[in-house]
Amino acid sequence: MINKIKLDLKKLLENFYLEKYNSNISIIVEEPKNSSLGDISIPLFTVVKTLRRPMPELVNEAVEVINSCNLPILSVSNVGAFINLFVDKSKLSLAIIKDAIEKDATFGASTIGNGKNVTLDYSSPNIAKSFSIGHLRSTMIGNSLKLIMQKCGYNTFAINYLGDWGTQFGKMIVAYKNWGNKEEILKDPINKLTELYVKFHDEAEKNPSLEDEAREAFRKMELKDPEYLELWSWIREESLKESKQIYDLLEISFDSYNGEAFYNDKMDSVVNELEEKNLLVEDQGAKIVNLGDDMPPALIKRSDGGSLYITRDLAAVFYRKNNYKFDKILYVVGNEQKLHFEQLKRLISKMGYDFQDEIEHVNFGLYLSGGKKMSTRKGNVTKLYDILQKSISMAYDIISSKNPDLANKEQIAKYVGIAAIVFADLKNFRGLDIEFNLEQAVKFEGQTGPYLQYTGVRIASILRDKEFDINNCDSSLFEKPHYFEIVKQISQFQATIERAAVETSPSIIAKYLLSLASSFNKFYSLEKINTDNEVVRNTNFALAKAVRIVLNEGLRLLGIHYLEEM
Ligand code: ARG
Repeated sequence: MINKIKLDLKKLLENFYLEKYNSNISIIVEEPKNSSLGDISIPLFTVVKTLRRPMPELVNEAVEVINSCNLPILSVSNVGAFINLFVDKSKLSLAIIKDAIEKDATFGASTIGNGKNVTLDYSSPNIAKSFSIGHLRSTMIGNSLKLIMQKCGYNTFAINYLGDWGTQFGKMIVAYKNWGNKEEILKDPINKLTELYVKFHDEAEKNPSLEDEAREAFRKMELKDPEYLELWSWIREESLKESKQIYDLLEISFDSYNGEAFYNDKMDSVVNELEEKNLLVEDQGAKIVNLGDDMPPALIKRSDGGSLYITRDLAAVFYRKNNYKFDKILYVVGNEQKLHFEQLKRLISKMGYDFQDEIEHVNFGLYLSGGKKMSTRKGNVTKLYDILQKSISMAYDIISSKNPDLANKEQIAKYVGIAAIVFADLKNFRGLDIEFNLEQAVKFEGQTGPYLQYTGVRIASILRDKEFDINNCDSSLFEKPHYFEIVKQISQFQATIERAAVETSPSIIAKYLLSLASSFNKFYSLEKINTDNEVVRNTNFALAKAVRIVLNEGLRLLGIHYLEEM
């Protein structure tokens, strides 16, 4: 909380020495271990050494400078060359609350990104398969990270790297040719295509030669066989419709939908480069790159000449480096692809480039159902869209029973239902597996998205149609523990966002919001906010308003709507 004052003091003194003595001195501002001496302490040894003047003179001078500034400081004293000061908690609190209210939606913004470019690769569902709840994590984490990065001053570029290429399309085409029927598929594309995909795997268990046929079919696609490409493009369009429905619902957008297929004609040059650099080795007809003793080699070309997932990712990363000029690229992809991204990095450094450390695999765990992994292939996948609809209808029921006269119930239920799902995901450290419990997630109490929205609604109703004068507050109230706790949390908003950006972890913000909401609800239970005493009321309203601003903005960074009513 006193970080800002510390910085201000540092600047104040450094400017002073620059102006008066034309000397660039770096001032150290610390928090003394023994807090009875003060909240802040500034040792002047460097100043004495640099300016070569008597210590008492310099100490007195510095005390005077601090005393005549406008910072919220209660008292200044000195012990030897140490200047010790106590912070005026009331004034400091008021300054923080005022700052939040003035800045409103820009409160918490940071400049750590400093105009650098971050490319984000997220969502990236596999075409012709259902958009599974597994992709939800990537979609929501990626979207939130994009918003967090923007808030920190980064330029972002969001890519939906569709899984629209690879042997699985060979499988689709073989399945379609054997058992498919166009009219049937058009009635319910994703489900029918998924059924075909499941059927392919069942049949291939009995008849392994189907796998060879599938590889051959994909090979034809890579050689641009018109019939196969047309089939592929039709499947892609139909599949994308389902994903777009989900993005619309979640209000998620991308700057590019260039998926794996986009790189079909961009792989040769990378493969040639590997060849020229003598990295490509023949292995039982296939082409591989050895990556060292600690890692299996990367398979770059199959013996039939077909490309692989990593071949396409390698082509993609160079394309992105050249076109989006990233300083950092985030791949929001499950834990199971850890090795894949390690190999990608190693390949880049083996090729003699030095940007491998700009690549971050933002990994995450699985969604479990009854402790078991969900999988598309076995056909027991739970569709994200169905879960979202279920969540929305559960939210609708709760809202209808709590607040039957509410106008706009559908719209609100939609935002609450989505908040339930999104928050249930983002509150967890992303590396962990999640056992998903919808019942729990939609609840208006506990660690849920609707709980945070409900806290916001509570504040909205307190402040509705009310005016207050922040310059007519009793700032000494802020020193009371249940006020001070909230002020302290508000002051940590920016640092929290920065930490979430550095650690690429939206859960840091989610947890922060939960504790802010719980402090506010405690405050609400202890204090009559809309009290008759004008000055107290102004103070309470100002505090509530600041909480509202942080809650609103914090939820936005997670991809959740702040609501006025519910
Ligand atoms: N489509 C892939 C999957 O669902 C994820 C792609 C992740 N991004 C990447 N550049 N490899 O497994």
